[in-house]
Parts: sequence; C-alpha cells; structure tokens
Amino acid sequence: MENTKKDMKNIVNHLKNSGFVFQSSEIYGGLSNTWDYGPLGISIINKIKRAWWKSFISLEINNVGLDSKILLNPKIWEASGHISNFSDPLIENKVNHKRYRADHIYEEITKKNSADINIRDLEHFMKNEVKEYDGSKTDWTEIKQFNLMFETFQGVVESNKQSIYLRPETAQGIFVNFNNIQRSLRLKLPFGVGQIGKSFRNEVTPGNFIFRTREFEQMELEFFTFPEQSLEDYNYYVNKSYQFIVSLGIKKESLKIRVHNEEELAHYSGATSDIEFLYPFGWGEIMGISHRGNYDLTSHNKYSNIKLQYLDPSNNNFMVPTVIEPSVGVDRLLLAILVDSYNVENIENSERIVLKIDKNLAPYKVAILPLVKKLSKESLEIYYKLIENDIDATFDETGSIGKRYRRQDSIGTYYSITFDYDSLDDKKITIRNRDTMEQERILISEIKEYIK
Ligand code: GAP
Repeated sequence: MENTKKDMKNIVNHLKNSGFVFQSSEIYGGLSNTWDYGPLGISIINKIKRAWWKSFISLEINNVGLDSKILLNPKIWEASGHISNFSDPLIENKVNHKRYRADHIYEEITKKNSADINIRDLEHFMKNEVKEYDGSKTDWTEIKQFNLMFETFQGVVESNKQSIYLRPETAQGIFVNFNNIQRSLRLKLPFGVGQIGKSFRNEVTPGNFIFRTREFEQMELEFFTFPEQSLEDYNYYVNKSYQFIVSLGIKKESLKIRVHNEEELAHYSGATSDIEFLYPFGWGEIMGISHRGNYDLTSHNKYSNIKLQYLDPSNNNFMVPTVIEPSVGVDRLLLAILVDSYNVENIENSERIVLKIDKNLAPYKVAILPLVKKLSKESLEIYYKLIENDIDATFDETGSIGKRYRRQDSIGTYYSITFDYDSLDDKKITIRNRDTMEQERILISEIKEYIK
C-alpha cells in the first residue's frame, strides 16, 4: 500500500541522511539558506543538465551553446534595467526587528496577486490591515526597494577598485554576444543560444530548502526570431518546456501552466507563462517562458553604441530580432523531481522509503550486491563491465541483502543485482526491480541488454 508522507521535514532529513543535499559550511554553523549537493545530488543534477542540453540545444537544429562569465561589465546591468528595476519591497517590523517581503505578506493574507498593487497601496495595506504578524504585534517601517544584485569589487589597488556585480541571470551574457555568435557561425534567423550556469540574487526572503536560495543555477535559452513569427515560437517553447519537464518523470497532476496577467508582466515582456509544481509548501514556479520582445538587444544597442542586429537576407534590411526565453532553475527542478518521486510505503508492517525517480535520472541505475563478501571479486567484475558500458552502477557489500535492497530503494536505484554462490556455477544473477520488487534470474552475459 502506498502512503505518501510528502512532508518537507521528512524529505529534507532523508535527502541529508542519504547523501543528496547537505547544509553548506555545516561545521561552522552553516550559512543561511545555502546547501551543498552531495554525491547523489550532483549525480542527478549532471543528468538533468545533459537532458536539457540535448533537448534545447542538440535536438533543436537551429540552437547552439555558450558559456559566458558570471562577472560582466557593470554597464550590462544598467542597460538591462537590473540596476534600476531589479528589487523587492522590503519592510521591517520595528517591534521584533524582523524583515519581510511586503508583497509576500500581501499575497499570503489576501490570496491576491501582488502584481496588482502599487507600492504606496502596499504600504497602506501593511500599516492598516496587518496589525499582527509572525506571532508579534506590528509597527511597520516604510517599504524600501531592495536591489537583489550582489555587489563586489574588482582590482587589487584600493583606489582603483571597480564595483561589479555577480550576474542575477545568465541571459544577458547571451544578448551581449549576439553579434559574435551570429557572425562567427553565420547563423540564419531564427536561432537560439543556450547556456547553463550559476546566478546570484541577494533574496530578501530565501527559503523552502533549495527552492529559493541566493546562489542557484539556471538553464536558459534565448531564441532570436522574426517579430511576425514570435508568437508561434513562444507557444512552441511553452509546449516544449512542459513536455521536457514531463519527460523527466514528473507527474502531470503535479504540474500546471500559469499564464501571467498583464500587470504581472516584467517591464520588457509581451507574454509570460510559468510552469508550476505542487511542492509540499504550495504551487511554485519551476520554469518561466517569456516573450521578451526586442527590449534587451535594443537597450544594449543604445548603451554600448554597437549595433546588435541582423541583416535580413530576404530584403537586405537590418532588424533587431525578437526574443523568446525559456528559463529554468536547476535547483527547483531537482527539488520537484525529488519531492515527486519520494514515497513511503507500508509493506508487511514495515516502512519502505522509495524514490521512484525516472531510471535515466536516478543516481544509480544498478546496484551490484554480492551475497557475501567472499563473492566480491566476481561481483566487482560485473560492476566494472557496466561502468565501461556507461551504465551508472554502485557496489555495496555491507549488511543483509534485505537491508541493502531497502538502502538502494531509498536512493532510487532502479535495479539491484545479487551475486550468490550459484552464480559461480550457472553464471546467472538475480535482478530485482525497485518499483515492483519482482526478481528474475538472468545470465550475466545478458545483463547489459536487459538493462538497456
Ligand atoms: N532570465 C529570466 C529569469 O532569470 P526568473 O523567472 O527570474 O527569470 C528563471 O528566473 C528561473 O530561475 C526561475 O523559474 C527559477 O526556476 C530560477 N530561480 C530564480 N530565482 C531563484 C532563486 N532565488 N533560487 C532558486 N532558483 C531561482
């Protein structure tokens, strides 16, 4: 019987105890809202990234990849609007000296979207409607717009140090390379440029484990197209993005597509849809698909005095392409995959934790388990053969077979192979399926085919 205890605390404990996610800098008391990925976490992340690259770059014949830098010329952030617009409404309760995002409190209390209210009305709402919050009476400060970019300094000589920022999105590194990429590869419109990399935001209220952190990773595609074709391309990428997330094994009933209303749209955006997942703490965005118009390229043209534009061979005129941007956070996608696949089952009066993760994403596809340590040498031969054939395998020789099966179930390993004394003679092993728990005896020489 399946009994899904999708409680965040249980899931976080399980992920920590089994090597997926650790608190960062733990021996020094941690750093708030910062998490390190353990051996099993990074194994899934690498597969997510490979799947995204294959789907959004390799299988899309017009798309190419890029790796631009985290530290960029600060003028880029002036042109993109991040210096003037990229902020959250921060408010402090003078009674308990805690800081909050006023827009989040408004949404929590009214169940309305905060995009529909301006800052003055938001401040009025906080002062008049929120007299108690977070277990305390309130005395609110004014709202301060708090810029989310991390500032740092470049240069060694104190007087010559230049203020620069850690990028808050990977997208701008793509826009400013438009001419380099289009001209060096002689690309014809429409084409896309994608990259995977770290982004940083000094979030006012990070939280919900790895859902909102200050350092995270994005997979972004900027698809450059003709304005008259852009709506069709936007719809194509909304649909493709949804299918991509489903292809990672996330159940459709845990997903929805939310179309932004006009007030919610970013200053540059003509249309945006979010793909949301039902986390234990509520619906949250995994991926956003935006119709960015030609805002970014036009703005860089103005600030840099370099024309980022395309010579349309059909009429020999220069034009500034329109951009469609599917953007997804690796950390949020990982959390959705882990939450969706986490199950606690009651089997013969005992609990079985099982991660029913897609077999192509699981940290290991196969575990090799010698019945006793004496059989380790022969079992390791199978292990190395699988690794040589690019099949993710792990090896475990400690504890009873029953316990080892449970351990592998709890980290999502799809098959467990037991090598016993009979295997020495009949050259067969027992292979067990994680989800059905059914076992079969097959020839060692057939393992590779069976798994593939
Ligand atoms: N270039 C567009 C852009 O950055 P965004 O909606 O701000 O758009 C895109 O971010 C994706 O990045 C989000 O859908 C989310 O998955 C991820 N993301 C954004 N902020 C994050 C944070 N603080 N922690 C983890 N992931 C985040």
